[in-house]
Amino acid sequence: MELARRLSKLPPYLFVEINRKIAELRAQGKDVVNFGVGDPDLPTPSRIIERICQAARDPANHRYPETYGLPELRAAIAEWYERRFGVELDPAKEVLPLIGSKEGIGHMALCFIDPGDVALIPDPGYPPYSLGTIVAGGQPYSMPLREENDFLPDFEVIPDDVADKAKLMWLNYPNNPTGAIADLDFFDKAVHFAQQHGLAICHDAPYTEVAFDGYRPPSFMQVPGARRIGVEFHSLSKTCHMTGWRMGMVVGNRDMVNVLFRVKSNLDSGVPQAIQYGAVEGLRGSQEHIAEHNAIFQRRRDRLVRVLNEIGLKARIPKATFYVWAEVPEGYTSIGFAKTLLDELGIAVTPGTGYGKGGEGYIRFSLTISDGRLEEGVNRLSSWRRRT
Ligand SMILES: Cc1ncc(COP(=O)(O)O)c(C=O)c1O
Repeated sequence: MELARRLSKLPPYLFVEINRKIAELRAQGKDVVNFGVGDPDLPTPSRIIERICQAARDPANHRYPETYGLPELRAAIAEWYERRFGVELDPAKEVLPLIGSKEGIGHMALCFIDPGDVALIPDPGYPPYSLGTIVAGGQPYSMPLREENDFLPDFEVIPDDVADKAKLMWLNYPNNPTGAIADLDFFDKAVHFAQQHGLAICHDAPYTEVAFDGYRPPSFMQVPGARRIGVEFHSLSKTCHMTGWRMGMVVGNRDMVNVLFRVKSNLDSGVPQAIQYGAVEGLRGSQEHIAEHNAIFQRRRDRLVRVLNEIGLKARIPKATFYVWAEVPEGYTSIGFAKTLLDELGIAVTPGTGYGKGGEGYIRFSLTISDGRLEEGVNRLSSWRRRT
């Protein structure tokens, strides 16, 4: 059997490795507090589940869905964008449901990247931006996200020849893994940079609804010109705590939406219809769950950040996302320190380098564990002292 050469370029998916190590420790009887994966512990709101169950009982929803989704869902997505961001979208041409946004992100690379093509990727960044590029035969070009720039890429340092050659730029705010945010001025700069170099922009925005202290993250689509060169990915995974149901969407430039539809319609059959009806309920119904979830994450955030700073791990207080990005103590690498926490305290975190070289020197904590487990983790952390 001879496998495709591109597979040799793919590292193992980060969380698969971490989960394997955690399972190994648990099999040895160790109690591990897992601050690793960003998967909300709080359930999907019950009215969404009820709508899914009701739709699941209807045989009309037992058949293949259409890739472009139910008209009702596309309309609900457009209405939500209008209500939340004041952005008007044509539900027929500028909206496409996805089987979770990760699916669309991966497939988008196939729409733009031929072997040898370049995509500009934030570093650190959500791994599928670079892995999708590699699967398509392309080359990721790292845009470092540095703390001194508030974890925003500096477009000025990208060489002109690289920017001219690149076909696609990935951006993601509120940001995983750094918890950083971007304002409309930044998005405006990104649009100008893209226009100057003939690039398309994919803005990945699954965390716009996970925000604290009264902050309301904007949408990239609010910027004039964004629709001419870009799209935005959103997801109900974090907005409605629906990670397990797989429900995402892409909106914006109609040619980009259409080309993704063309690839997808040849490779998948869309989101199961019962879940689409659940999504309509999530988008059109009461949005109260968002404030309730955010109050819980905000309390957890404050509890964790206080203890991290007390034991000497510098961490900013994120205004959005449920991630805390903390500096490792001097003398440690991010992998080395993640291993120390696992071995000495039974605490699993994600090493920053799992998101690219630019993540060196950091670890990521996710706040998506129960209050009880968070308290246990925080107590263990507060006892941590460096062994000399
Ligand atoms: C930045 C970012 N984009 C996309 C996703 C994928 O979300 P979905 O569950 O919609 O596939 C995640 C999930 O953690 C993420 O952090």
